[in-house]
Amino acid sequence: MIIAIDGPAGAGKSTVAQELAKTLGYQLVDTGAMYRTVAFEALNAGVDLGDEEAVAKIARTLSFEFRFVEGENVVFCNGKALDQEIRTAEVSRAASIISAHPDVRTAMVEQQQRVGRGRSSVLEGRDIGTVVFPDAEVKAFVTASAETRARRRLEQMEECGEDGDYQEVLKEIVARDKRDTEREVAPLKQAEDAVVVDTTEMTIEEVLRVLRARVEAVRSPRGE
Ligand code: DC
Repeated sequence: MIIAIDGPAGAGKSTVAQELAKTLGYQLVDTGAMYRTVAFEALNAGVDLGDEEAVAKIARTLSFEFRFVEGENVVFCNGKALDQEIRTAEVSRAASIISAHPDVRTAMVEQQQRVGRGRSSVLEGRDIGTVVFPDAEVKAFVTASAETRARRRLEQMEECGEDGDYQEVLKEIVARDKRDTEREVAPLKQAEDAVVVDTTEMTIEEVLRVLRARVEAVRSPRGE
């Protein structure tokens, strides 16, 4: 079973994907973390982020794995756990830049298919239902208004003891949305057969109820 969860940053996608994977006992493939890892490795190696071939080579050669560690989903790159170091503003910007390169995306789609294949998985990203697993049994497009996403991001930053400015965060989200939706290769868009969940006025529990109902409908199509 493959569950594809796509949508923009801050829509609540990660939280619902994590809850769903945990309760179903599935692997959770956070494809954003994979792009972030490639960006992080490119920055560390001093590679020019605009050098498509050099970044694609990094994307092809890394080995990825996901495991739950103390209840948190962790990406392992070449056997090493990566956590806060791939969540910085610098890596966010770099990930958005490198994910626009067609050769990098080709390499990453193969990596994501390799990780997801063979195990029941929840995959979260931007192009899972459209490109990576177009035959996924369940597809959801989780979204929310930019203002709501900015407020949620600010709350997260405050929980981590970081100071954030609402207008700055909103500006960054709008800029990322624009880059992610307007790029030529695999732009962020919903699959035609995805259930669209607008979380602006919804709690996580309400979102989960919608998605669990979808999963159940696939697991027991005749209500068995
Ligand atoms: O979901 P995130 O913020 O961790 O994603 C980091 C970046 O990677 C973001 O700019 C979008 C990009 N990305 C992508 O292009 N395709 C995916 N499947 C996942 C993420």
